[in-house]
Order: sequence, then structure tokens, then C-alpha cells
Amino acid sequence: MQDGCGRTADYLRVSLTDRCNLRCVYCMPATGIQTLPHEQILTLEEVTRLARCFALLGVRKIKLTGGEPLVRLGVVRLVRALREISGVEQITLTTNGVLLAQHLDALLEAGLDAVNISLDTLDPARFLRITRFEGLERVLDAVDRAAAAGLPVKINCVPISGLNDEDIVPLAGLARGRVRAVRFIELMPIGCGSAYTAVPFDTLRAELEAAYGALTPYDGVLGNGPARYVSLDGFEGKIGFIRAVTDCFCADCNRVRLSADGDFKPCLYQRAKLNLRDLLRTGADDETICARIREQLRNKPEGHRFGRVQADADTRYMASIGG
Ligand code: 5AD
Ligand code: SF4
Repeated sequence: MQDGCGRTADYLRVSLTDRCNLRCVYCMPATGIQTLPHEQILTLEEVTRLARCFALLGVRKIKLTGGEPLVRLGVVRLVRALREISGVEQITLTTNGVLLAQHLDALLEAGLDAVNISLDTLDPARFLRITRFEGLERVLDAVDRAAAAGLPVKINCVPISGLNDEDIVPLAGLARGRVRAVRFIELMPIGCGSAYTAVPFDTLRAELEAAYGALTPYDGVLGNGPARYVSLDGFEGKIGFIRAVTDCFCADCNRVRLSADGDFKPCLYQRAKLNLRDLLRTGADDETICARIREQLRNKPEGHRFGRVQADADTRYMASIGG
């Protein structure tokens, strides 16, 4: 399916829950966020039905996100169901990794194609400070096991001044062999993110270069998104940079989103204008659902305007929007 600007949308990100078993300081307040009542959250059957509609419209890749998708019961069953949808070529998961090891075998068996693991530090004390929970060992164990099982693993890190500056070089070191890519994501002024300062990408690059040598641009395809990759001598995996704020990659945007409560979001930064749960629950057929999705996609904005006033900006937390 195409949006009003001629971009093809073949990639759907589905948030399965706005709940999370961590409380990263740049994402959520210590007390957590006001979570959605259960009856407002899409059932897994509803997610599957909507995914089928999206596949009819041309979606080929589905990413399960949250909050933390693995706190949702039945994720394995969902992966299996999505795998059976004709047209869907790839199902991936973004997780904080805490619960990954215990579900790994079942997820692999269900047909999961790849996993992104959010990890901002390799130091247990800083892990506690950033996420407000213990759990680093479990995440690292999950990284090892997933990579050993042959699942492509990407690590996502948000470098923040005064929080994890010292972790950038060691985290990048994971790409020496174990993982396919370590990616640095620019902090966005969403949720609690506005209270922190991103480490400038020039600083990141300089530190990596000093530690590991020249960063050679890599043009191969490594995913569905806006990351720019570089190779390092002696590294099997790549290093990625996602300039979510300072580099507007909206012109190549291929993604749409479904929030846990059924909002269809053509753009991360715009408040949804169509709730697919309501449409489903009032008995709409697939044809109507597809038509409404198409209609919304036509109005997908050309780009975001961080730092400027945007009347219809989505002001919720990342975990509610779907990361
Ligand atoms: N800016 C950038 N990334 C964020 N995440 C959460 N909040 C922000 C923010 N303000 C990331 C997490 C995780 C993913 C779910 O979203 O680090 O990788
Ligand atoms: Fe949870 Fe991810 Fe937010 Fe951390 S950043 S609290 S892991 S949703």
C-alpha cells in the first residue's frame, strides 16, 4: 500500500502492551505510566485478524514491540499465528531481553526471524540506575543464547550524557562476533526523554574510532529501517547509527504502527485518528477495515517536526505509542 506521498508501507510495528517489567529513567517515571485497562487492549485474535488485513494491503514484515512484548501472555502463540498469514515474510521482536531466554526455544520453534534487544549498559550498577531493576545477567544470557541459536540479534542502545557514556565502547564490542549489529539510537524528546541529553553522534563516532579504528561505511541491507551502518576491522557484526531526531529519514519511511489499544498510526509522531479495535468490535468486515486503513495512510504526514510546534503531535509515552 502507498501513502499520499508515494511511499510504500510494507512494514508494520505492533505494540502488544504498554506495560513493561523495567522502568528506564528516560522512558518512564519510577511509578510507571498509567496503563491501559485490559478490555481496551487488542486480544491476540484481534491482532491476528488486523495483521491479516495489513498483509492483504501489502505488509510483508511485522515487528512485535511494547512496552515489553514478552510480558504479554501468548506471544509465542501469536508469532505462530502470524507466521501462517500469507504474504507475511518476516516476524521480529523488540525486547528488553529480561524474559527472552525463557521463551527463546518456543519463539524459535514458532518461527521468529530476528530479535532486537534494548541494552544501554554492560555494567550491573548502571543497569540498575538506568532501568531501576536488576537483570543485566539475564539480558546478557539471552543475547548469548539467541546468537548461539542462530537468531539474528541486534542490540539497541540509547547513549545519554551522564548515564551510559562509558558503555558506548564496550557495548559496540559486542559486535565483534556475537551479535549482528550494535545500534546507537538518538534520544527522542518523548516521555521522560526530554529530561536527558543525548550523547552527540560526533562524540560517539570519535570514541568508537579511537577504540576500534576507522569506521567504514557499510551499504549492505541489514534491516527495514533508517539505521546507517559502519564496519570495523576485525568485527563480524556492524555498528549502526539511528539519528532519530537530527536526521529526518521520513522521506524513506516504510512503516506503519498499531498500538496496543488498536490505534492505527501511519506516523510515530502523530496522534492516531483511527482506532481499529473500535472498528473491529462494531462488526466491520475486512474490506471495510482495509478501506479505512488505506484512507488514513493517504494522510500520512510527510515528516515530523521535532522541536517545532505540531498541533496534532502525540504526547504520550514511548511505551504507550509503541517503540
Ligand atoms: N528516545 C529514544 N529511544 C527510546 N526508547 C524509549 N524511550 C526513548 C526515547 N525517548 C527506546 C528504548 C528501547 C525502545 C523500546 O525504545 O531504549 O530500545
Ligand atoms: Fe521498558 Fe523499554 Fe521503556 Fe525501558 S525503554 S522502561 S525496557 S519500554
